[in-house]
Amino acid sequence: MEVGELVGAGRSADVYAIGDGRVLRRYRVDADARRELEIMAHVAAHGFPVPEVFPGESTATDLVMARLSGPTMLHALLAGRIGAEETGRTLAALLRRLHRIPARLSREPSDRILHLDLHPDNVMLTPDGPVVIDWCNAREGRPALDCALSALIIAQAAVDGESELAQAARALLAVLARELDEDLDAGGPLDDAKARRAADRGLTAHEVSLLDEAVALIRRLAGPS
Ligand SMILES: Nc1ncnc2c1ncn2[C@@H]1O[C@H](COP(=O)(O)OP(=O)(O)OP(=O)(O)O)[C@@H](O)[C@H]1O
Ligand SMILES: [Mg+2]
Repeated sequence: MEVGELVGAGRSADVYAIGDGRVLRRYRVDADARRELEIMAHVAAHGFPVPEVFPGESTATDLVMARLSGPTMLHALLAGRIGAEETGRTLAALLRRLHRIPARLSREPSDRILHLDLHPDNVMLTPDGPVVIDWCNAREGRPALDCALSALIIAQAAVDGESELAQAARALLAVLARELDEDLDAGGPLDDAKARRAADRGLTAHEVSLLDEAVALIRRLAGPS
């Protein structure tokens, strides 16, 4: 397939314009774009905001989807276009909405679709509202794990003295913890979330070294007051 302009690049994929209002997300790492596409189609069928996917044009490494316009929520936050309050409320609302969607495969009644990387750089603020991208970690399981991972990713930025995001992340984490309330379980899911982040080959050693402090910060915010 002929690819055009590079419109975005993350740690695991490059995203190219391919015309007709579509983009192609091409993995640089070994991952299964088909599984991701099926999950995106499933949540879309339940009314959740994701880019429309095009199965006929996608392959195991290339995901073809609608091109979105607008900044990511992280860019909007850092540019001062939205505040921590709105960002935290939007993230919590997206997590709650996602967790109302039934699982596709699991027979465990409490299992739901989990994104497992739902942070402000994976939400694009389009003219039609926030849309969630980057479903490469998505799977089914306990919603509390998804909430724990979102909080942990933000907490890692909050405790990172080297990061220019630290202050914004701290304010955002406080709002998210308040909004998620009981859904942010300070127990088991945080250890599970930490183990997953520690095993993520996309993280630097410095990022992994922040995990304990990040977990402690969440426990302080989410613990019994
Ligand atoms: N459907 C889309 N329309 C327009 N731009 C997009 C779309 N999907 C992704 N992008 C752009 O590409 C960037 C990278 O996409 P994505 O987050 O899916 O890649 P990634 O490699 O998984 O990222 P990460 O570093 O979070 O792992 C996004 O920040 C966004 O700017
Ligand atoms: Mg991303």
